Amino acid sequence: MIVSSAPGKVYLFGEHAVVYGEPAVPCAIERRATVTVDARTDDHIRVEARDLSLDGFTVEYAGDTGYRPDVDVPEGLVDAAVGYVDAAVEQARDAADAPDAGFDITVESEIPLGAGLGSSAAVVVAGIDAATRELGVELAPEELADRAYRAEYDVQDGQASRADTFCSAMGGAVRVEGDDCRQIDTPNLPFVVGFDGGAGDTGELVAGVRTLREEYDFAADTVESIGDIVRTGESMLADADPESEPTDELLSELGRLMNFDHGLLEALGVSSRTLDNMVWAAREAGAHGAKLTGAGGGGCIVALDETPETRTALRYTAECRDAFRAELDREGVRVEELGPDASARSDAEPNAEGERR
Ligand code: MEV
Repeated sequence: MIVSSAPGKVYLFGEHAVVYGEPAVPCAIERRATVTVDARTDDHIRVEARDLSLDGFTVEYAGDTGYRPDVDVPEGLVDAAVGYVDAAVEQARDAADAPDAGFDITVESEIPLGAGLGSSAAVVVAGIDAATRELGVELAPEELADRAYRAEYDVQDGQASRADTFCSAMGGAVRVEGDDCRQIDTPNLPFVVGFDGGAGDTGELVAGVRTLREEYDFAADTVESIGDIVRTGESMLADADPESEPTDELLSELGRLMNFDHGLLEALGVSSRTLDNMVWAAREAGAHGAKLTGAGGGGCIVALDETPETRTALRYTAECRDAFRAELDREGVRVEELGPDASARSDAEPNAEGERR
């Protein structure tokens, strides 16, 4: 048995535009999805999902991806739990050259589903890590990120960038522009998250922006302007000392860029009344800036505030279900627990391809 976990993330800026080759800066946060994998003697997959926003469930099925069990829970939850886990299993089987491997899989997540905090990326990254290790193969984090991206890409019908999966695999703050993914140094940014209790459909929201962009030049210009915001923000971060607390000047400049970014995302049609209300509550409480995070449509906003004011104000905002401080998590995917068989295997060194000798 292997237990791996991977962090969720917030976008400092750049979501949606990153799908069209503009840069984005997501940051991993200390909220994790944990996946436990036990190899089976047959080719069945049994998925137990717990704490995924709604009541948990267990399903068992054999074989091919694309199969959806008939269970009495909302389709979105089944798709999220089974679709992403399926895709992770396919990647693990491929990486370990074990096409018939079966697993018992338990998913436990502190990250609300479809709410802009990268729950699916975290489940896929932790799932591939645990399943490959269970088959005796250890992948380097970069390869894990690449395989997790391919899994998300399949489930989301090609509507995915590398941002969420790379950030979850590597941890910390990252910069993603097309296939160019790298970690960047940032000071500890004082993120506060507000959650409206809802979720957005990433595929639908990305498709909506794609249509707007094809239809109107000014929508295409808006996407490019988001890229300009990211480039401005990352040069500010590059000038900051990652070892020190962020200065007031840095926070207010980043906050202003976050406000700009939210305005442009709103113009692209991916915000919502509840997200806008939480953004305004955060700004009125004195946050340096606030914006939606992730695909939008509902879910979470992220604000920058080193004081408790924004969190308190959000907790008194009718549209806000939960508000919490989100510390930057500098660690990406990690093993939480190795079973007896796996710990024996883990004594071997991984080779250049990440495989154990
Ligand atoms: C979703 O968390 C972020 C989007 O930019 C889609 C993606 O990058 O895959 C909306």
